[in-house]
Amino acid sequence: MGPMHMNVSRSTMLLTILLGQTAGVLGQRLVQNFNGDWRFARGQQDETVLGPGFDDSHWQHVRLPHDWAISGPFDPNEDGYAGKLPWRGVGWYRKVFTLDKKHTGRRVYLDFDGVMAFPKVYINGKLAGQWDYGYMSFRVDVTPFVVFGARNLIAVQADTTRHGTRWYPGAGIYRKVTLTICDPVHVGHWGIYITTPEVGDGSAKVQVQSTIENHTQDQVQVDVQQVIYDPQGRVVAKGTKGIVVPGSGKAHLEQAFTINDPKTWDVASPRLYKVRTILKVGGKAVDQQDDTFGIRTFQFTADDGFYLNGRRLQLRGVCLHHDHGPLGAAFYTRAMARQLEIMKDMGVNAIRTSHNPPSPELLDLCDRMGFVVWDEAFDKWDATADRSRDVPLEDYACRQIRCLAMRDRNHPSVVVWSIGNEIGEDGRDGVTPERVRILSDAFRQVDPTRPVGMACHIPSMAERPNFTALDLTGWNYARRYGIFRQRYPDKPIVYSESASALSTRGFYELPLPRTKTDYSSQLQVDSYDLNAAPWSDIADAEFALMEQDRFVAGEFVWTGFDYLGEPTPFSRQARSSYFGIVDLCGIPKDRFYLYRSYWRPDATTIHIVPHWNWPDRVGKVVPVFVYTNGDSAELFLNGRSLGLRRKGILPARPPSLAEGCPAIASSSQDGHPAGHANDKATQTRWAAASPDPNQWWQVDLGQVTRVRFLAIDLEREEKNYGYVIKASIDGQDWQPIVTKPTSRQPMWGGPTEAFHDVDLHARFLRIEFNRLQEGVWASIRQFGVYQQEVPSSYYDVTYRYRLRWDDVIYEPGELKVIAYKAGQQIGQAVLKTAGRPAKLRLTPDRTELEASGEDLCYVLVEALDKDDQICPLADDLIRFKVDGPAVIAGVGNGNPLSLEPFQADHRRLFNGKAMLILRTKEGLAGRIRVQASADALAPAGITLRSRPVRGNNR
Ligand code: GAL
Repeated sequence: MGPMHMNVSRSTMLLTILLGQTAGVLGQRLVQNFNGDWRFARGQQDETVLGPGFDDSHWQHVRLPHDWAISGPFDPNEDGYAGKLPWRGVGWYRKVFTLDKKHTGRRVYLDFDGVMAFPKVYINGKLAGQWDYGYMSFRVDVTPFVVFGARNLIAVQADTTRHGTRWYPGAGIYRKVTLTICDPVHVGHWGIYITTPEVGDGSAKVQVQSTIENHTQDQVQVDVQQVIYDPQGRVVAKGTKGIVVPGSGKAHLEQAFTINDPKTWDVASPRLYKVRTILKVGGKAVDQQDDTFGIRTFQFTADDGFYLNGRRLQLRGVCLHHDHGPLGAAFYTRAMARQLEIMKDMGVNAIRTSHNPPSPELLDLCDRMGFVVWDEAFDKWDATADRSRDVPLEDYACRQIRCLAMRDRNHPSVVVWSIGNEIGEDGRDGVTPERVRILSDAFRQVDPTRPVGMACHIPSMAERPNFTALDLTGWNYARRYGIFRQRYPDKPIVYSESASALSTRGFYELPLPRTKTDYSSQLQVDSYDLNAAPWSDIADAEFALMEQDRFVAGEFVWTGFDYLGEPTPFSRQARSSYFGIVDLCGIPKDRFYLYRSYWRPDATTIHIVPHWNWPDRVGKVVPVFVYTNGDSAELFLNGRSLGLRRKGILPARPPSLAEGCPAIASSSQDGHPAGHANDKATQTRWAAASPDPNQWWQVDLGQVTRVRFLAIDLEREEKNYGYVIKASIDGQDWQPIVTKPTSRQPMWGGPTEAFHDVDLHARFLRIEFNRLQEGVWASIRQFGVYQQEVPSSYYDVTYRYRLRWDDVIYEPGELKVIAYKAGQQIGQAVLKTAGRPAKLRLTPDRTELEASGEDLCYVLVEALDKDDQICPLADDLIRFKVDGPAVIAGVGNGNPLSLEPFQADHRRLFNGKAMLILRTKEGLAGRIRVQASADALAPAGITLRSRPVRGNNR
C-alpha cells in the first residue's frame, strides 16, 4: 500500500519520523506534525473567533510549541514565585487546514502533548474536545467535526486563570500537536502495552496486549500481526492472531513471544526493541504502528537500594522542572536532549520529572540515552494539579493517572510511578490512607509492573498508616526518611529530593558564608557552594548520607537546571531559581564539577573555584577550592607551591577555650549534664530539666581571657532560641554582650549554629535563655569560645569531597593545580588573571542543524582578553545578527535577577557569559551566519549549516 498524501510538505512528515513519534506513513496510517502555521492572540474573544469569517490576519503568526508568556514583559513588582512573567490569562490559537477528499470515511485525531491550561478545542465552530490538566497529553477525535476536501478551521482556547502553581508554568500550546488519519479499524490510542514478564540469560518472554478500535458499525475480523525487531533492526519474533472487533467497539488481544539471547536495556547500554503491529482486514493492511520497549529487570529493595538487571545501581539523580529557561515551557526535543547530555556528562543516571507528567519525548530520550525515570503525576492535589474545588479528588486524579500510565508504560526508562509531591495530611486536598490506596491502585490497574511511590516531606505523617498502600516512599530533604525507616523497615526508600543547594553562576563574595543560610546581600548566591535553603543541605552533606545509608536507592538533587520561578532565598526580587547545578541557559555552575568529580570517579575532573580576578583583594585572603576526582592535589600561585591537600583531612581547628572547663546550669536533664555542652564530643549536649524557658548555662574559663568569637551549636535550629549572653570577670558583676530574640525566620529549618563576633576580657560566660519557641527546650551541644573566628563544623564534610586552600593570599597571575589519584598524576588545571575584555568568542553546541523548524543551536557567548583568557566579570551588552534560515529563539545569561527580555537580538553578558539560542526554519536549508558585536569588544562570527531534514530528497 503506497503512502497517502494530503496537503502537507514531505519534510513535515519525515520530521515526524525523526522525532521518534509513530512513523509518518505506515500502512494506511498518516501521522503528521501539526505545529506549523498557527495564529495567536492573547485575551478573551467573542464567539466569532470560532468561525471562518473572523479576521485573524493581525494575530501573531506562530509555530508550535508556543509559550505566550515567555516573551514577557517581566513585571518587577510581581513576586518571583512564577517568574514575574505574564502567564496568567486567556489565549487563542487558530489554524486553517485541509484534508484531502480521499480520506473521507477515515478517522482523524489530534493529539496534544500539553496545553497550559484547560484547553478547549473547536473545529469548524463546534467544541470538539477539552482537557483539564495542563501537563497531561490528550487526544481529540475530530472526525465528526471535519470536512474532507475542504478547508477546516481549528480554534483552541487556553486559559490559565484557574491554574495554580508554585513555579513558572508557561502558557499556551507549549508541546507538540500531531494529526493522525487512519482507517476506522485501528490500533487504539495508547493501545499497545508491552511487558517482559520473564527475563533470563538465554531468553525473555515478551507479552503484547493490544487494543483494537472499530469505528464502523459492523463487526470486523481483524488479523493482528506483530513483528519484533531487535536493537539492530533484525526480526527476532513474529506472530499473528485473529480477533473479532464489535461494531463501534473495541477488542483486546494478547500475544506472547519468546526472544532468545535478549539484549538488556541498561543505563550504560540502553538497547531498544521494537514491536510493529499491522492490522489486516480481509487480507489488506489497514493500520500499522511501531512501539519501542526494553528488556530489563529492576527492583527497589528495603535494605540495599535499587537493582537494575541484577546489579545494584546507586541512583545519581536530578529533579527537572519542565521549563527550558529562555524558551519558557515551549518543548523542543533538542533542548531536552541537550539538558540530558549535560546531565549525563555530570554522571546522572536518573531523572525525576518534578512534579508533573513530562513531555513524551523526554521519556523517548531517556530510553535512548540510558536514564531511569521517576514519573510523577502531580504536585499537591489541588489547583496546582489543575483540580478545582468542585471536582472530587479521586475521580480526577485517577483519570489523569490512568492516562499517564497508559501513555508511558512502554518506556523501559520509567521505574517508578509517583502519585504526587509533598502533599499535606489535612483537609480537602490532603493525604489519607484511603486516597493513597485509590491513587496507587489507579496506576496498578493500568501497569502492575512498576512500584508506586510518592515524594513525602512530613516525617510525622509516617506515624499513621498513610503510606502503607505505597510500594516505596520518596523523602525530601534532611534525612527525613530516617524516621520512616524506623517505622517501616521493610519498605524501599528513595531520597526523592536532596540538596536544594543554591548558587549563582560565576558569583563569589568574600568572606565565605558562615552558615548555609548566610546569604549575600547582593541578591545573588555565592558560588563557593556553601549555601543551601534553610530546610536543606549542601551537596557534600548529601554525598556523605548516601554513602552511609545504603538502604536508600539514591538521591534526586533539587535541581539539575535552574528554572523559572521559585527564586529562594530572594523570592520577591528574583525571577528564576538558584537551585540548579547548571544555570538557566545551560551553563554549568561550579557545583556541576563537584557532582561530576564524585559521581564519575573515573572521568578526569579538575576544576578551580573561584576565578582569579580580584583587583580589590590584593594581599587579602581569597580561598581556593578544587573539585576533582583525584584524591589530592597541589596548588601553585605564580609558580610557588601553596601545599598539597588530600581529601578527608580536616585542617587543625583551635580548641575551644571552654573545652573541659567547669560548667554549671540552672537545671539538667538526666544524662545531659552541663559539662556536655563544652566537652570534646560534639554530639553530646546539655539539656535543661524542664521546658521552662528561664534557664541558664555558665562556664568558668579559669582565668580572665580575651574572647573574640563564640560558636554555639544548639540542639534545634537557632531561630528557636531567645537568649542573652553575659560575661563577667569575677562571677558577680555580669555584662550583657549578646542579645538574641527568637524568630520565625527562616521558614522551614535553618542552621543550628549561632556565631557571635565579640571582643572582651572575661573569666565567666553565661547564656540566659528567656524565650523558646513552642516545644523547644534549652539545650546546647557545644558552647565554643575562641580567640579567632572558626568555621562552622557543618562544613567539615566539605573536606571529604573538595580540596580546600582556605588562606590563599590573593595576588594576580596564575593559579595552577596538579591533581593526583593513588599517587599518580591525573592532570592539571590553570586559571589566569584576565586583562581587560578585548574580544568576543562564539561557541555553538552544534554546527550542523536540521531544517525542521524545531532544531536548535545553543551558542555560548564569552568575552576574552587579548590573550584569549576568559574575562569572568565582563558584563558588556552584546548584539546579535543572524543571516540565513534561522531565527533567534531566545537569549539568556543565567542571571536570576535580570529582567531583560528572553526574546531579543541582544543580551548583556553576566559574569562573562551569555547564551544565544537559534531555531531553524522549516524546509529552508542553507548557511546561517551569526555575528555578535559589542561597543568595546572585537566582534565574532560563526557559520552554521541547516540541512534538509534527513531522508528528504527534495
Ligand atoms: C521542595 C518541593 C520542590 C521545591 C523545593 C525547593 O519541598 O518539593 O518543589 O519547592 O522544595 O527546595
